[in-house]
Amino acid sequence: MSMGKEKIKWGILGPGKISAKFAHDLSIVEDAQLVAVASRTPERGIAFAEKHNALRSYASYHEMLQDPEIDIVYIGTPHSFHKAHSVLCMENGKAVLCEKPATLNSKELRDVLEVSKIKKTFYMEALWTRFLPAITQLLEIIESNELGKIDHVEAEFCFEAPVDLKSRLYDMNLGAGSIMDIGIYPVFLAYLLLGIPERIEASGQVHSSGADQTATIRFFYPDGQLAVLHSSIVYGSQMPARITMTKGYILIQPRWHESAELTILKAGYEPKAIACKPNGKGYTHEIDECHRCLRTGQIQSQIWSHQNSLDLMALLDEIRLQVGVRYSVD
Ligand SMILES: NC(=O)c1ccc[n+]([C@@H]2O[C@H](COP(=O)([O-])OP(=O)(O)OC[C@H]3O[C@@H](n4cnc5c(N)ncnc54)[C@H](OP(=O)(O)O)[C@@H]3O)[C@@H](O)[C@H]2O)c1
Repeated sequence: MSMGKEKIKWGILGPGKISAKFAHDLSIVEDAQLVAVASRTPERGIAFAEKHNALRSYASYHEMLQDPEIDIVYIGTPHSFHKAHSVLCMENGKAVLCEKPATLNSKELRDVLEVSKIKKTFYMEALWTRFLPAITQLLEIIESNELGKIDHVEAEFCFEAPVDLKSRLYDMNLGAGSIMDIGIYPVFLAYLLLGIPERIEASGQVHSSGADQTATIRFFYPDGQLAVLHSSIVYGSQMPARITMTKGYILIQPRWHESAELTILKAGYEPKAIACKPNGKGYTHEIDECHRCLRTGQIQSQIWSHQNSLDLMALLDEIRLQVGVRYSVD
């Protein structure tokens, strides 16, 4: 699909909590239009469409995918449905931006990417943090070599959630646990900055439901570089991230995964603050990237590619294996 100057027309599949935030940001992207929303619960779909100015709502996902006006579908359902919904969209000729994690494991993701390749349809995991100004600037600073080489990366994603066995965070049928929901962010940062580690050590507390409530992850790299990462759904944290380099360090100010400021601390210099406020809630940047790809007829982003999603998923597979978290699809 290669598109001209007309607006890119979106559908939203699964109008839940994150979809509402996404729809807000879609409304401030000039060349985006929210055409339709699909919910299995018609009243939820109608209310969402009204609130977010969608032209129409559908009471079935399949029905929305027959709408010829829709170019791309944003999938905002729980993780365990990501594979089926991504495949369903692409088989109906719709490009896909699917919430993170892309799927529950590498096997599922390979199946999704195969459909993208066969159908020549755009697919991207909604790893929105990758597109934020904070991350773009961070990479520029690191590449400038001003602070030397990375020694270690420390990052976490922790919040306190109630123990609710029916919730997405505790129900294994919905892809429960801290690793897949939020641990994915620190793992992403380490992968982005240091690549695939030589060795992984991961441990955590696993609830009787089977969901990991905490995880502590260490990535070891061949020349002594290290990443120390945490996720938790039982305790909170301020959530800074720190990149320690040979000539100083960079703080990604909290909450780092949606940061608006970097601080550079270089020995012998005053701390330097770098503003990098995201546009909207931060989802506009990934939306812009989808538009760029659709307008140039690409089936994947070069910034967060299919291989990047596969690498990230392989890391999550190994971390879950070590911590002892298994889904029925494993
Ligand atoms: N990027 C971010 O910042 C961010 C933040 C939060 C979450 N997320 C990701 O977004 C995804 C959705 O999270 P959420 O908290 O927004 O989910 P949610 O509000 O609980 O559910 C979203 C939608 O999924 C469908 N759904 C929910 N529970 C279901 C069930 N038991 N069986 C079948 N369908 C179900 C519903 O669709 P219907 O309306 O059709 O019933 C619902 O509207 C997750 O994969 C999560 O990792 C991303």
